[in-house]
Amino acid sequence: MKFVFFSLTGNTKKIAEKLDLFPIEEIKNDLLINDNYILIASSIGFGQVQPEVKSFLKNNSEKMIGVIGSGNRNWGQSYCKAAKTISKEYNVKYFASIELAGTNNQIEECRKNILEFLSNGN
Ligand SMILES: Cc1cc2nc3c(=O)[nH]c(=O)nc-3n(C[C@H](O)[C@H](O)[C@H](O)COP(=O)(O)O)c2cc1C
Repeated sequence: MKFVFFSLTGNTKKIAEKLDLFPIEEIKNDLLINDNYILIASSIGFGQVQPEVKSFLKNNSEKMIGVIGSGNRNWGQSYCKAAKTISKEYNVKYFASIELAGTNNQIEECRKNILEFLSNGN
């Protein structure tokens, strides 16, 4: 298992580091992932998926088992919407909505959800 992230300001990377469960891989040109992975995705304007993440998913969606959202509640209805959209579109588990790089409680809750999901044979 891996965490895969794309980040504009470092928040999704910090979430992966704080969760401290799996190796971390950054989305860059033509990255191909052979292991199962959990995507950490932030949103841009009004809940859009980052273009880099969109093109990554075109070639890598099969190994994705779930997604974590990073966002900002100031965006109201669009809070973490990109990650929720990905979860629906690819029919994968949505683990947690995290504000920016996450409070300790949010990180703990997310870690718990991931471990529970994996221990159920997923
Ligand atoms: C132009 C812009 C648009 C944003 N739009 C949203 C949004 O629609 N929903 C949301 O929850 N957060 C939104 N955010 C907040 C970011 O998703 C949030 O800061 C996130 O933690 C960034 O993670 P990253 O720096 O790792 O990419 C936006 C931020 C910027 C700068």
